[in-house]
Amino acid sequence: MSAIELRKVCKKFEQANKQLRNLRVLDNISLKAKKGEFIAVFGPNGCGKTTLLNIIAGIEKSSSGSVRIDGKCPALAKVGFVFQNYNESMLPWRTALGNIELAMEGQKISKKDRMRIAEHYLKKVGLSRHKNKYFYELSGGMKQLIAICRAFAYDPDILLMDEPFSSLDYSTTRKMELELLNVWRETAKTTIFVSHDIDEAVFLADKVIVFSKRPARVKGIIEIDLPRPRKLEMLSSKAFIRIRNKMLRLSEYET
Ligand SMILES: Nc1ncnc2c1ncn2[C@@H]1O[C@H](COP(=O)(O)OP(=O)(O)O)[C@@H](O)[C@H]1O
Ligand SMILES: [Mg+2]
Repeated sequence: MSAIELRKVCKKFEQANKQLRNLRVLDNISLKAKKGEFIAVFGPNGCGKTTLLNIIAGIEKSSSGSVRIDGKCPALAKVGFVFQNYNESMLPWRTALGNIELAMEGQKISKKDRMRIAEHYLKKVGLSRHKNKYFYELSGGMKQLIAICRAFAYDPDILLMDEPFSSLDYSTTRKMELELLNVWRETAKTTIFVSHDIDEAVFLADKVIVFSKRPARVKGIIEIDLPRPRKLEMLSSKAFIRIRNKMLRLSEYET
């Protein structure tokens, strides 16, 4: 059984102005993720990537088609979600540690264990020395790493990440990706990571699903056969550039 399976998922949004036709966003999306797989969904802005994640998480309903997580409908699955804008989901008046711990409140885990788990993830991403800082005191990259730690600490069945690094500069983004892979490697959570950054998608994933412009269709699925652990030097390797070019040919960006 696949950890995540989408079959022919379509999504149309009704327009507020009834004169306008429904907005077609997802067109027959089928995809599968095996347990422990890291899938990147790569597509242009506005093509429907966030909508796809919302449907997998059960936040939004598809117009047709089916979504299964470990064979269950999304409402019954434990889904970790890292949003594009960290400020929407984190508490500025709590510390770094306090925000991660929040994921475990309401679960049957003692305060002591919650702190231990939160500290463990902070250490994994190299932020131990910032543990007692308030969330608002941290940089954008650190904030997203805290959001990522929180999603892992929740111990979900699957993890969904919506362009978590899209507001960061190139080199900070690459550093954050390495930290993310550090944590991911330990837990091997099935992950769907949405991105409009070609280097990011190739660097992180086992498999990249290339979306077209809206309405998003699957244009192709590319296996990333780069070894793990991934290293920054790989960004300039022949294998990386070969995969990158293949993706460029598949995507809208080809000339
Ligand atoms: N709740 C909604 N109601 C109507 N239109 C929406 C809604 N959510 C997203 N859209 C539209 O659907 C399209 C795809 O949006 P989105 O999934 O956010 O794209 P992406 O994440 O790939 O940038 C956009 O044109 C957006 O305006
Ligand atoms: Mg989006």
